[in-house]
Amino acid sequence: MKMTHVWYQLQHRTMAAIASRATGLWHFAMQAPQPLRDPSAREAIHQSLRSLFERDLQNVEAGHYPMELALNFPYLEHAAAFPAAVADSPRMLWKRFRDDFAGLPDDVDLSSFPHYYRRTFHWQPDGWLSERSARIYDMEVEFLFWGAADVMRRMTLPALGELKAKERPRVLDVACGTGRFLSTIHALLPHARLYGVDLSPHYISRARENLRHVPGGVGLLVENAEALPLEASSFDAAVSVFLFHELPHDARRNVMREAWRVLAPGGRFVICDSLQRADAQALGLRDFSEWFPAAYHEPYYKGYLGDDLAAALGECGFAVESSSCHGVSKVVVARKPLTAARA
Ligand SMILES: C[S@@+](CC[C@H](N)C(=O)[O-])C[C@H]1O[C@@H](n2cnc3c(N)ncnc32)[C@H](O)[C@@H]1O
Repeated sequence: MKMTHVWYQLQHRTMAAIASRATGLWHFAMQAPQPLRDPSAREAIHQSLRSLFERDLQNVEAGHYPMELALNFPYLEHAAAFPAAVADSPRMLWKRFRDDFAGLPDDVDLSSFPHYYRRTFHWQPDGWLSERSARIYDMEVEFLFWGAADVMRRMTLPALGELKAKERPRVLDVACGTGRFLSTIHALLPHARLYGVDLSPHYISRARENLRHVPGGVGLLVENAEALPLEASSFDAAVSVFLFHELPHDARRNVMREAWRVLAPGGRFVICDSLQRADAQALGLRDFSEWFPAAYHEPYYKGYLGDDLAAALGECGFAVESSSCHGVSKVVVARKPLTAARA
């Protein structure tokens, strides 16, 4: 086994061991419902993560992305965010025990946001609407997924490989959050012109800081992905990571139609999001996927579980090329047909 592979496995196993204990304590404190006590349900999660890490290394071997990307685990960044997350936890617990998912910071004008957005997700005390929320988000997601969040995001990269040969491809990240995945795309496609859209002004501010190193900058917009102020047919590819499970049914369709509109004919839309019901069932992860939305307060997740992404993309005019499962996520790759006509 190569030394880089040993180092890779060591860092992921260490992170998984720390994060599984920390999240176990957190579930206990939050009194999360239906804990996954069944050993076969837990083994299914461990197996899905082992397969994910193997796939990550296979992608490196296949030349989809360099090993540096797979080894680039931001310990220091996450360690720096840890104290703020711990300081936030009493507010989270307070919200959870009061079932208060509507209270948001007083200084925010909620009227400019869609109704489904005016609430907390995952018991984050401020929802998506504070600087503090944006500061601790990446670390919390990485812990929640036991160190596999970036790995799951990377599973979209092979589908963007065709842009390596294109002169100055334009790539859009729909709901880019703090810009974490845009930074990864920049590492893979340094010649690409990158854009990101997110509804949270605080997350976009954070993205601006995180993407300062990109020469020429990244076009970042605070906008609703359901109505993008971007020209039709102006992007070579679009990606979206961990957005669709947080949207109600109609918003999911609106975002897909907007992605279709702004893509040039032949452009790909690559979605990475949670497993859906049929995927989870096939992988023995059904208990996990039913437990997750209740434990983490994901109000639209139940609807998402049964709303097959590939079928929805087909409804919105895309030609679906593949759908594959990775860890507790799936990647769906769809293309706007060259002779595109809206469905
Ligand atoms: C779970 S986070 C995912 C962020 C990022 N893509 C990642 O990989 O971590 C969901 C993001 O979707 C954004 N969002 C939710 N609804 C949106 C909408 N209608 N338009 C744009 N962004 C939206 C939120 O502000 C948040 O940053």
